[in-house]
Amino acid sequence: MSDPPLRKRTVKPAGDPITPYQRAPPPPRRGHPTRPLHLSLALVILAFFVVYAQKQTFKSKAPSLYSVEGTKLPEIYAICSKEGQKAYTVPVEGGVGRVECVVVDGKEVVDTGSLGKIRRKWISSDNRQKPLHDLKVIYLPAGHTMTPGLTDSHGHPLIYGQAQQLTLHGCRSPAEVIERVEAFVKSTPPQPGAWIEGLGWDQNLFEGQEFPTATEFGKSALLKDLPISLSRIDFHVEWVSPAVLDMLGDIPDVDGGQVVRDSLGKPTGVFIDNAIDLLKASRPPWTDTDRERYLQIMVQDALSKGMTGVHDAQGFLEDQLFYRKMAKERKLPIRFYSMLACGREEDFCGHKIKRFDDPDGHYTLRSVKMFGDGALGSRGAALIDDYSDKPGWNGLMLKKEEVWEPLIKKWYEAGWQVNVHTIGDRAAKTVLDAIESAFASDPERGRAARFRLEHAQILRPEDIARAAKMGVIGSYQPTHATSDMWYAEDRIGPERIKGAYAWRTYLNHGGRIALGSDFPVESIDPLKGFYAAVTRRSEDGKSPHGPGGWYSAEKLTREEALRGMTVDAAYASFSENITGSLTIGKRFDAVIWDDDLLTVPEDEMLEVKVKAVIVDGKLVWGYITA
Ligand SMILES: *[C@@H]1O[C@H](CO)[C@@H](O)[C@H](O)[C@H]1NC(C)=O
Ligand SMILES: [Zn+2]
Repeated sequence: MSDPPLRKRTVKPAGDPITPYQRAPPPPRRGHPTRPLHLSLALVILAFFVVYAQKQTFKSKAPSLYSVEGTKLPEIYAICSKEGQKAYTVPVEGGVGRVECVVVDGKEVVDTGSLGKIRRKWISSDNRQKPLHDLKVIYLPAGHTMTPGLTDSHGHPLIYGQAQQLTLHGCRSPAEVIERVEAFVKSTPPQPGAWIEGLGWDQNLFEGQEFPTATEFGKSALLKDLPISLSRIDFHVEWVSPAVLDMLGDIPDVDGGQVVRDSLGKPTGVFIDNAIDLLKASRPPWTDTDRERYLQIMVQDALSKGMTGVHDAQGFLEDQLFYRKMAKERKLPIRFYSMLACGREEDFCGHKIKRFDDPDGHYTLRSVKMFGDGALGSRGAALIDDYSDKPGWNGLMLKKEEVWEPLIKKWYEAGWQVNVHTIGDRAAKTVLDAIESAFASDPERGRAARFRLEHAQILRPEDIARAAKMGVIGSYQPTHATSDMWYAEDRIGPERIKGAYAWRTYLNHGGRIALGSDFPVESIDPLKGFYAAVTRRSEDGKSPHGPGGWYSAEKLTREEALRGMTVDAAYASFSENITGSLTIGKRFDAVIWDDDLLTVPEDEMLEVKVKAVIVDGKLVWGYITA
């Protein structure tokens, strides 16, 4: 690519304040105390202090969470490596785009290239144009690298923030869950009328692997009268207390869901998929103060892990109003691409809210999220043939099959991107049939619509080929594969498993993918997804197929994994012209890492740390010493 013309800039007066500005502390005194100081040594020390005194540390204003302004780096600066091409620009055209330097002016990247080129073009005084003496060059510390900020293409930001309050992951019995809830209630006494909500239990970890019941709460004097609703780790099941059952009164059955009942037909306190909607009518709604608190928790965790953007995979109407308000007040430090979620039994709600495009790209509403089926763990995923471990059962489609084609068309024509949750092969097939038939006369328009299958977890091989050809984006969560690998093949058998979590096959067919985590179902840490994508093994190095990884042919390369979390995520949100790369004209959203994700040994990958995060050219997390 040819160099862009130098931009004319007014050179700012020297000493323009950089806030906060901190001198680095003087170096510790070492040296030999008895040796007489001669002149040369004194000069060395003097030179050392001069060099040191010029060092600046740019520190983000942590722990102030909503510091959108961040700490101003200079208005114009370059970040360079002295160790070769250690800045990865991840361009739209492909590859990782290795360069030595990235030049930033305000919010945008204005140049990239070698140290020599950048010096000649931007600093050298024999340049025919006016030299830009105020270009500050910040060097990456030894061993460090820079990448675009990472985007999680499928997460639940507000739910994540809420769920951090009471997490139940790893509980090995209902009694252990009850203990944790009791401890939470003791430390955080609930407001009158408020529900106690938690996340993360998994009956697969309990003896007998049976769903728990409301009676468990009755055994606790502290909990027996409190309204409690605890989500299974996959959010597809709620386990509630007797107080909630009382509130609901008569409980009907629900299409596309299940109210678990005992032999007398009495609800046991477990609600699956669409039946969860029954709870929403009684549960006190979130206030914007709640939302702001949840968002703060999420943003802080995201930034500390190098995440500068997230696709909110289920943004309710009220959440959209909240995001819009926050965007207008410039209180969103990272980028939110929201998928609108309609209310209960409502297939279309595009008339209730306007699409929204924040000029700064921190909140965009132009996509809708719909659910095709349930999840694999709770056997709600809709399969074409029966579950291998439950003959006679093939899961739940959450809408009737004939609904999909007109519905997808309606959303498309109203200008929305359509993203459908599909886990089972029947859900995927149904949605792909609908898209194919809706765009049969103009497949090019279908491709341009960038439909997404959220999870795309199990597909028939012919559907992978078809989805790729139709330009449907596979929105995958690599950590789902490494969480599910211990039981997924029991559920679907050795044939269907070949099209499950089949990222490489999707790419090989020319398909596009985007990577995410589904936090808080999985960890919010994108490095865990990166590691799962390139190793297909657990964090302790194991897999059902040994240390080489589970169905290792489906591994992604590091480059593909990095692209899946940057430029491909941008493509999946129609923002590849603005974010996802550190190339000229794009917003400078970047992460500085203390190691190199492209070369670090696999068993050290999860130890790589974020040193600094920059959004729109401003430091928002960590620090940079220049
Ligand atoms: C990106 O920019 C190109 C060239 O200006 C334009 O044709 C394309 O529509 C843009 N893409 C999106 C998603 O806005
Ligand atoms: Zn999700």
